Amino acid sequence: MSEDVLRPEAAPDEGRFEESLRPRALSEFVGQSQLRANLAVFITAARDRGEALDHVLLAGPPGLGKTTLAQIIAVEMGAEIHHTSGPVLERAGDLAALMTNLQEGDVLFIDEIHRLGPAVEEILYPAMEDFELDLVIGQGPAARSVRLALPRFTLVAATTRMGLLTGPLRDRFGIVHRLGFYHAPELETIVKRSARILGIAIDGDAASEIARRARGTPRIANRLLRRIRDFAHHLKTDGVTLEATRWGLEQMEVDGVGLDSVDRHFLMTIIEVYGGGPVGLKAIAASMGEDQGTLEDIHEPYLLQIGFLQRTSRGRMVTPRALRHLGLKAPNTGPLFEDGV
Ligand SMILES: Nc1ncnc2c1ncn2[C@@H]1O[C@H](COP(=O)(O)OP(=O)(O)OP(=O)(O)O)[C@@H](O)[C@H]1O
Ligand SMILES: [Mg+2]
Repeated sequence: MSEDVLRPEAAPDEGRFEESLRPRALSEFVGQSQLRANLAVFITAARDRGEALDHVLLAGPPGLGKTTLAQIIAVEMGAEIHHTSGPVLERAGDLAALMTNLQEGDVLFIDEIHRLGPAVEEILYPAMEDFELDLVIGQGPAARSVRLALPRFTLVAATTRMGLLTGPLRDRFGIVHRLGFYHAPELETIVKRSARILGIAIDGDAASEIARRARGTPRIANRLLRRIRDFAHHLKTDGVTLEATRWGLEQMEVDGVGLDSVDRHFLMTIIEVYGGGPVGLKAIAASMGEDQGTLEDIHEPYLLQIGFLQRTSRGRMVTPRALRHLGLKAPNTGPLFEDGV
């Protein structure tokens, strides 16, 4: 049960629910204050000059607000947004068709841009840089290349896997930002806002309990709120109380700090197979049968943030804090005690 409640990725049937809770304006967007302040400056400047905003790259683990920000950027620029994603753009022609439909100032949002094929990426370069599209028409000896002028548009791209982007692609974005996990007070604000939108009465201490367990991720906070509303309904409490929240979280086996099953497996592998570390990520991934990049980009950042994992020059190490959380005792000797951990 805890596995699906705490997954940072969106569930297949979550789209409409998420859409209803998305902040529409920058002023409604909670947290990521540095990013928000910078975007406000860039957007105002571009708007005052009557220009398109520079291309924006948003990177970070799932559920932190990349798609939300892409939509907000379009709204704040008073622009139309066109959605697409790396895996959907199979051939260069797919992207060309989209780009030739853009109007001056429009936002083109490419989700999962790390999954763009090389041929598609190739035509993106001149489009981003010079607003030109190089098309090859025909085949064989009769093939010729034509150059089309594109309107000035803003590419907003999102990725959970910044490390997979090629250097040349990354360099073509004027604004690059990594989204970090949210702090509990920010998530509490988000939970209260969502409750208001959904017409749920929630006590302050219940909202703060949900915020603490939501893995630093707005998507998970909203999902927990939705499920706990049902537990409160079942208990017939007056709105969502702390009691109903605690009971619901217990029933769903939600971890006290928001670890999901992969996080736990990650930690347990280091402990059981590698004596707590230090061990390289590649070895851990192989032992787990997991993709190394997924561990590095989605699971490791959260474990580092909550102090359950340490990155040393010799590899990853589990900390005594993680051992305590997992109900294990730190050995008196051995690698866990080296490096003063
Ligand atoms: N700063 C925020 N304030 C309020 N709600 C937020 C915020 N960030 C995200 N959310 C909510 O969390 C949900 C997930 O956000 P979003 O879809 O933008 O994440 P994402 O980074 O695009 O995830 P993915 O990588 O899976 O595409 C949305 O429903 C949105 O309402
Ligand atoms: Mg998204």
